[in-house]
Amino acid sequence: MDTVLVIDGSARTYGSDIASFGSHTRRISHLFAETWRSQRPEDLILHREVGAVPPSPVDADWVHAAFTPAEERTFWMQQRLAESDKLVDELIAADVIVVAAPMYNFGLPAQIKAYVDNVVRVGRTFGFDRSRDGEPYWPLLEGQNKKLVTIASRGDFGYDDRLKHMNNVETGIEIPFSYIGITDHYRIAVEYDEFADERLQASIKRAEENTKDLVATLIAA
Ligand SMILES: Cc1cc2nc3c(=O)[nH]c(=O)nc-3n(C[C@H](O)[C@H](O)[C@H](O)COP(=O)(O)O)c2cc1C
Repeated sequence: MDTVLVIDGSARTYGSDIASFGSHTRRISHLFAETWRSQRPEDLILHREVGAVPPSPVDADWVHAAFTPAEERTFWMQQRLAESDKLVDELIAADVIVVAAPMYNFGLPAQIKAYVDNVVRVGRTFGFDRSRDGEPYWPLLEGQNKKLVTIASRGDFGYDDRLKHMNNVETGIEIPFSYIGITDHYRIAVEYDEFADERLQASIKRAEENTKDLVATLIAA
């Protein structure tokens, strides 16, 4: 049995297939989950809501607790890291991780950034030892065959070519995930949201087809 973890990060709480002005990333992540479920009903699909219920951002207590060795943590430190621990446990359990990430000001929504900051955890998803020969950091989720799928949506168009240099969405997830050892990456994107014309409809249709193809590819693998 595989576990698919779907993380939704749009501030818009309904998919664009069920609400006007709804979220395209939610629409596509839902399609991904339903396509997967129809082909592998025995698998576990977990849903992590981040857009409407963001993890609390890293603060001084979090840093103090996370960088205190686990066996020395006091009760308040354990309490402060409880949410992060839960998110890390989910990530460790997942074989396929789907992050549905709108573009906000050329990068990730703060909600998803808070998620990333909570799962890139010393001692849990990456190791650090300054006395180590060579590289003091190493990935703890390496070699587990985890797949990362990023589902993006943008108001403008051309972020894979003419505006590529301004797109920090996919890399904002892929770089930190590579750092913790998740290096197998796939991308799906919707563009033209702000034009709301036939180009948006064509982009959605393409993203839906790509999603079904990707699910088939991942299941076959
Ligand atoms: C706060 C905010 C910032 C945005 N910034 C950008 C941007 O930098 N570039 C862009 O092309 N679209 C931008 N957009 C448009 C969104 O990327 C677009 O509406 C996308 O479809 C949102 O994802 P969703 O449909 O899943 O909610 C922005 C939208 C919002 C609400």
